[in-house]
Amino acid sequence: MKFHVLTLFPDMIENGLRTSITGRAIERGILTLHTVNIRDFAGNRYGKVDDYPYGGGAGMVMQPQPIYDAYQSVARDAGRKLRTIYLTPQGRTFSQELAEDFAKEEELVLLCGHYEGVDERVLEEIATDFISIGDYVLTGGELPAMVMIDTISRLVEGVLNNEASAEFESFQNALLEYPQYSRPEVWHGKAVPPVLLSGHHANVEKWRREQSVRRTARWRPDLLEKANLTEKEKEMLKGEEDNGI
Ligand code: ADE
Repeated sequence: MKFHVLTLFPDMIENGLRTSITGRAIERGILTLHTVNIRDFAGNRYGKVDDYPYGGGAGMVMQPQPIYDAYQSVARDAGRKLRTIYLTPQGRTFSQELAEDFAKEEELVLLCGHYEGVDERVLEEIATDFISIGDYVLTGGELPAMVMIDTISRLVEGVLNNEASAEFESFQNALLEYPQYSRPEVWHGKAVPPVLLSGHHANVEKWRREQSVRRTARWRPDLLEKANLTEKEKEMLKGEEDNGI
């Protein structure tokens, strides 16, 4: 899968993503990361890409032409229009479900804004999706773009060593993940739950599922609506509620 990132801070994106799991996937050619410096398309000697907002107000606005030309340089090479995400707190909230949808694309363009925003007209021409990573405001779209690329990448075949791990983790089935333990068997006086040492695979699975259901009920009850709980599990939770657990 190929990610094109239009940004004023390509180093931030390169340094963040050419590291760890995404970095290894890029090295192995499973992912391609292509950063495009919008400033290279400034069209003036000073590399100026922003100006005052018409109508007044605080801050500067990124001008349309450099962004458009940066996008066109990518679309021209691809020979077609590409799904193009503008990162903005005004967008739809990013989720695992959206990540799965984006992971179906072969190429994605991510546009990182800065200053007080981006001239609306270029968004009308190039943006296909407006995405926020949460209800808070960052200084720019670079971190949100990295969050999206990381999340989407781990859904791409071959990026994770263990194919199974992408499937079973939090949110994939609308339940939080069960607790994990590794060596030592006792740490700070706390023993690993005995069932995990039993070697009884079915019991381990049963315990894990129960832990996931309980955790979700306690920490993210809003997720339970989408979870496919069995009648027995619903009763278990109801019993705990009645007992004030
Ligand atoms: N740019 C600034 N804040 C943002 C957010 N929360 N999500 C996406 N892009 C942003």
